[in-house]
Order: sequence, then C-alpha cells, then structure tokens
Amino acid sequence: MRVGIVGGTGGIGEGMALRLAQSHTVMIGSRETEKAEVCCRSCEQILKEQGLSCSLIGKTNQEVVNFSEIIILAIPFKFLVPTLKELTGFEGKVVVSPVNPIEKTGEFFSYTPPPEGSAGMLAKKLLPKEAKLCVAFNNIAANRWRELKEPLEYSVAVCGDDEGAKRQVMELAVDVPNLKPLNAGPLAVAPLIESLTPLLLTLGRYNRLKDVGVRFY
Ligand SMILES: NC(=O)c1ccc[n+]([C@@H]2O[C@H](COP(=O)([O-])OP(=O)(O)OC[C@H]3O[C@@H](n4cnc5c(N)ncnc54)[C@H](OP(=O)(O)O)[C@@H]3O)[C@@H](O)[C@H]2O)c1
Repeated sequence: MRVGIVGGTGGIGEGMALRLAQSHTVMIGSRETEKAEVCCRSCEQILKEQGLSCSLIGKTNQEVVNFSEIIILAIPFKFLVPTLKELTGFEGKVVVSPVNPIEKTGEFFSYTPPPEGSAGMLAKKLLPKEAKLCVAFNNIAANRWRELKEPLEYSVAVCGDDEGAKRQVMELAVDVPNLKPLNAGPLAVAPLIESLTPLLLTLGRYNRLKDVGVRFY
C-alpha cells in the first residue's frame, strides 16, 4: 500500500514510518522537501542497522497527498486547520487522524477539543466530503514506535464512518507485528479515543512511567 505521512518528520510520523516502511511504501511529508529527505535517510540508516529493508520517499506534504492511498495527518493540533486548508486532492483517499487536542494544565494533562467535538470531527469538516476519514493511532507514544527491538504490544482503536476505510486502516495496523486494531465504531467516537491520551500522559506523570499505552483484552 502507498502510505503517506503529512508532518512525517516529527515524533509520531518518523516512528510510524520506521515500522510501516518495512511492509509498505511510505512517503514522509514535510513543508520542506529537504527536511523530508533527511528524515528518510535517517530512517533508512536506522532500519539498515537493524538488518531491516524498507521503502521510503521524502517529499512535500502536497506530494504525499497526491501519491498516497492512506494519508496519516501527523501534525500538532494547533496546525491542523492551516495545514488542511493548504492541501488539496484528498478526494477518495483514506485519511487517518492521530491528532490529540491536549493541554498541560498545571499538574495534569487535559483534553481540549475544538467546538466540533474532537480533532477528528474538525478534520472531517475541513476535508472534502469524498475523503474517508478515520481516527486511529492516537494512543501509542512516538518513542514506542521508534524502539524497533521492542514489540508494539498495544491496541489501536479505529473509528470512522466509512467501513471500507476503517478496514484498510485496521489492515495497516495488523501489518505491524503485535499491534491489535479494534473497531471502535463511528467517527462520533473520536472524542473518547483522543481523550484517552491525556489520561495516559497523566498516569505516566504521577507514576513515573514512560510512554504509557493500552492493550484491551
Ligand atoms: N508524539 C507522540 O507520542 C504522539 C502519539 C500519538 C499521537 N500524537 C499526535 O500526533 C500529532 C503529531 O505529534 P508529534 O509529536 O509527531 O508532533 P511534532 O513532532 O511536534 O510535529 C510534527 C510535524 O508537524 C510539522 N509542523 C510543525 N510546525 C508546523 C506548522 N506551523 N504548520 C504545519 N506543520 C507544522 C513539522 O513538520 P515539517 O517542519 O517537516 O513540516 C513537524 O515535524 C499530534 O497531533 C499528536 O497529538 C503524537
């Protein structure tokens, strides 16, 4: 599958690229081509050192949208609106939002959704109606994706209103050994998925745990 990562040079983008590029062609996107290319070379080097083969390309975010069948929006919540307003060509594509609107308020992390109810629903409003949006990969820390020697023993809750798109996203997760995708229902469930992340961060803060995640049994 052709998988693209808008904002792929950041923490979660690079982490996901390292895992997904072992079984898919992954295009890392950036606002600057050179930054995307540097990120690709660095990922290739990391994978090569582990004896792993990969298929990686570095391009602009717009080229990522043009090229990919599945597009992951790996950008901070505050840049979601300007980024989606600038990009075109999402029609017919599967779009995945791992975006969590979160703030650290004093001693803990809070869920701070926009008036639309969630980052996912805001993305849906900004995307063309032919785009097939799913919310997924919100609850696994970037560091866990990067630790290639460690299995990713986590669940991935996937919600969305297009059953075919949701199936494709779940298949993408299955291709990463040990990840367990779960159907979380319609896009209206997005606030529940996104708001789990500030809880995980707060649990980490109070229990001195790094990169807390969940696996549902
Ligand atoms: N980090 C995690 O552990 C984690 C886990 C689960 C979900 N998430 C979610 O994933 C998303 C990305 O998180 P992250 O930690 O990877 O973010 P990040 O590293 O802070 O940023 C990701 C990318 O966003 C791009 N960016 C920066 N400023 C921008 C701007 N003004 N306009 C457009 N793009 C800009 C940058 O790419 P270029 O400079 O190359 O354009 C950057 O590499 C967030 O919404 C977060 O909630 C993160």
